[in-house]
Amino acid sequence: MGNSPAQAKHVAIIMDGNGRWAKRRALPRAMGHKRGVEAVRKLVRSVGSLGIDCLTLYAFSSENWKRPDEEVDDLMNLMRKFIKSDLPEFIANDVRLKIIGDWQGLAPDIVAMLEDALEQTSGGSRILAVALNYGAQQEIARAAAKAAAIGEVTDKSIAAHLDTNDLPPLDLLIRTSGEVRLSNFLLWQAAYAEMLFVDTLWPDFTPEHLQQALDAFADRERRFGGR
Ligand code: FPP
Repeated sequence: MGNSPAQAKHVAIIMDGNGRWAKRRALPRAMGHKRGVEAVRKLVRSVGSLGIDCLTLYAFSSENWKRPDEEVDDLMNLMRKFIKSDLPEFIANDVRLKIIGDWQGLAPDIVAMLEDALEQTSGGSRILAVALNYGAQQEIARAAAKAAAIGEVTDKSIAAHLDTNDLPPLDLLIRTSGEVRLSNFLLWQAAYAEMLFVDTLWPDFTPEHLQQALDAFADRERRFGGR
């Protein structure tokens, strides 16, 4: 497919179904999240060979704080471990980390780790964007406020102030686990994106599933192009 227009360059994923994956196996929810991180790791390793320039993952929403403290702690600890263990791999594989959302509001040690990781990966050419403490409505409100402050409230100006302002346009948005809603993720950016809802639970989602999604995207693009 190479650089043809049917190749999705920016793919975003709502990683849903960790809890159900664990429940089906009578395992604690934490186990589902742990396996969810494994799925993330495998996917990040595959983006280069799949021809994707930017992968954006919904890791923690601004609504996720409402979950029990223990689960929030589990997710934060997984984040700490993931950054620590995978940072050298990002650097080696030319991956630039990007964080979207109100991430400065996370625990100070995580903020410090993320700042360090952002700096150390700043030279990377493929982007892994992680949405942390992210809500699209809040992102749009922040961007609109900045646009208003410079006296220019237009679609272009708001887009220029979104957290994603340095990312390529979103081509494909995938949600796993059979739920069909956007849950406050990339509402602005999804305006022209293709959407794909798959039944696979997130811990079971592999690079092969992503390849299938990219093939489905390419098929749709070809059909629209042929009209
Ligand atoms: C949805 O499953 C998933 C989440 C709330 C968090 C996604 C987080 C990860 C995959 C791990 C952390 C990510 C990184 C990048 C280190 P759910 O608990 O809502 O599942 P359920 O709907 O089946 O209960």
